[in-house]
Amino acid sequence: MAVNLKVSCFILVLILVGCDREQVVPSTAEIEPLDRQFETAIMSVEIMDKWARSCALCHVNGEGGAPRMGDLAVWQERLAQGNATLLDHTLKGYARMPPLGYCMDCEEIEFAAMIMFMSGQNQ
Ligand code: HEC
Repeated sequence: MAVNLKVSCFILVLILVGCDREQVVPSTAEIEPLDRQFETAIMSVEIMDKWARSCALCHVNGEGGAPRMGDLAVWQERLAQGNATLLDHTLKGYARMPPLGYCMDCEEIEFAAMIMFMSGQNQ
């Protein structure tokens, strides 16, 4: 009985340690794929079509203070925040920038492509 208890305690400790490790792993794993997403985020005709129906409404003329398409100096300041923040602000909205930028059916990789496109990074 005593041995059994020791074994179960040992297993419990292993599980707890295992859980602890698991919490650390996803946070780094989240960042890497995101950067890779941005690197490989290329505009396609389909994404361009979605961009024209959503982001373009504000980001062509700078509506409400939106950083304008191709205004590299302005975008440079935004890019300095890092891709993760830019994507986060696009998904959740940011000041007068609406959540998802009016593109309800856009995937994260498509938002990444659009951000890189507007800031002149992937043309
Ligand atoms: C209704 C107008 C509007 C639409 C539509 C819109 N945006 Fe924006 N966006 C803004 C405004 C305004 C800002 C500036 C917010 C601020 O800094 O005050 C902004 C800022 C941003 C930023 C910079 C955020 C930051 O942290 O600096 C990104 C990235 C962005 N928009 C991406 C997009 C994408 C991608 C789309 C299309 C899917 C989109 N936006 C559609 C108005 C819009």
